[in-house]
Amino acid sequence: MIFLNINNLNVSIEGKKILNDFNISINEGEVHAIMGPNGCGKSTLANVLAGNEEYEVNSGKVIFKNQDLLDLNIEERAQKGLFLAFQYPVEIPGVNITPFLHASINSKLKNEKKPELDNLSFAKLLRKNAEELGISTDMLKRSINTGFSGGEKKRYEILQMSILNPELTIFDETDSGLDVDALRIVTEGINRFKNPKKSFLIITHYQKLLDYIRPDYVHVMRNGKIVKSGDISLATEIEASGYQNF
Ligand SMILES: Nc1ncnc2c1ncn2[C@@H]1O[C@H](COP(=O)(O)OP(=O)(O)OP(=O)(O)O)[C@@H](O)[C@H]1O
Ligand SMILES: [Mg+2]
Repeated sequence: MIFLNINNLNVSIEGKKILNDFNISINEGEVHAIMGPNGCGKSTLANVLAGNEEYEVNSGKVIFKNQDLLDLNIEERAQKGLFLAFQYPVEIPGVNITPFLHASINSKLKNEKKPELDNLSFAKLLRKNAEELGISTDMLKRSINTGFSGGEKKRYEILQMSILNPELTIFDETDSGLDVDALRIVTEGINRFKNPKKSFLIITHYQKLLDYIRPDYVHVMRNGKIVKSGDISLATEIEASGYQNF
């Protein structure tokens, strides 16, 4: 099954064209990585898929599990199994992690016409996942991302992913700021969660991240479109000689 199909997507912001006939197709169970120089439009892509309305979609189609993603609001996208993880996750003071995650998973289950989780079953699920990620019970009582260190935000993000159990997860690991521990949290989290029914799109500058995750496809993006697709050896080539050859 094709999870995500983006066809000739053109996106601009404040009249400036950023995505330029962008195409990608991601099947069930595949891990794709996108690498590209600063400013080529990677985060723009992630933002459009997330439903950020600052960006103007001029033309093109985004089909997610047989439905036009651009017709869905942010909540509907999550309910359908899309999860986006950003490098700088928002702090939501006053919104406590535990009830938030409980409400989120129940909203997804309800949408799938599956039974919702009562407090006890949710607490068990949360505890099991938190333990695997080294998240303390104290942290689960806090507000989302508020005052979290970079590494704690990463852990929380992976926790949220494992609880919500999305079909397609998109990571935008922009700029910098992933220290070795955060890198390990992300890679172990993804590798533990990976299975033939899950797909990932990982946007990164780190060849090292890809060494651990071993994506099925690596795409090089320039000026708003994919200019070359291949396997992990592309990441090695970029690490050695930059983007000038593309
Ligand atoms: N809200 C915005 N307002 C104005 N310009 C924007 C906005 N968001 C993105 N842009 C511009 O769009 C272009 C692409 O930005 P984008 O963040 O998608 O690049 P990127 O590939 O993610 O880069 P990086 O590797 O540095 O994260 C840049 O020139 C950027 O300045
Ligand atoms: Mg970016």
